[in-house]
Amino acid sequence: MIYLICGEKMERVQKVIANRGYTSRRNAEKLIEEGKVKVNGNIVKLGDKINENDKIEIEGKEICINDNKVYYLLNKPRGVISSVKDDKGRKTVVDLINANERIYSIGRLDYDTTGLIILTNDGNLSNHLTHPKNKVVKTYLAKCKGVINKEQINKLKNGIYIDNRKVDIIDFKVKRIDNQKNITFISISIIEGRNHIVKRIFESIGLLVDKLTRTNYDFLTIGNLKSGEYRRLSIKEVKKLYRN
Ligand code: URA
Repeated sequence: MIYLICGEKMERVQKVIANRGYTSRRNAEKLIEEGKVKVNGNIVKLGDKINENDKIEIEGKEICINDNKVYYLLNKPRGVISSVKDDKGRKTVVDLINANERIYSIGRLDYDTTGLIILTNDGNLSNHLTHPKNKVVKTYLAKCKGVINKEQINKLKNGIYIDNRKVDIIDFKVKRIDNQKNITFISISIIEGRNHIVKRIFESIGLLVDKLTRTNYDFLTIGNLKSGEYRRLSIKEVKKLYRN
């Protein structure tokens, strides 16, 4: 089986132990000095560095992250659906991740949308991040057909209504205009998660989205994950997601 875990940082063993919530960093150092810590079956020394996902045993007992709660950040490719199973047998985001737990995505991206999506078995985090009161900001980069004009920019500035409900546009930037190819790249940050919301925002001002990618989810970015690659979130990142 091939594990496609990328973008992980090497960290000191005591830091990884502390991140997993097992004990303090100082106490972890003591356990390492006493020869009680094994990583992937080998006793480690103080100062050794490991991957966040390595198997750690303390006095023969494996320590897991947060009671077997798992958190993955995936760079979703095009042509993959954001659900656990598909009636039509299409590939799902869950198929891309080598996890033993029953994970699912937090929110959805369209079949043809790429980019950052979180998968977990932590229902609390999922509820937390998708609840409108927590105002989690997501940023998308849209490649639109056509060259945006002043009037369309003003419409985005003044507020867009979809199904008679105003969309909170936190920010948007026209990143690049290609007059020859007749395309505009626009990044847009929003809170809500109505279906096809970004495509509908641009459609409402007369721009058709040709390609869409989610680049940011709260403070998280794709980093150097290639399409289809994923990594685990650290406990620190999970705690930060809960802080909103
Ligand atoms: N908005 C869309 O239109 N599509 C997505 O996949 C996500 C947000």
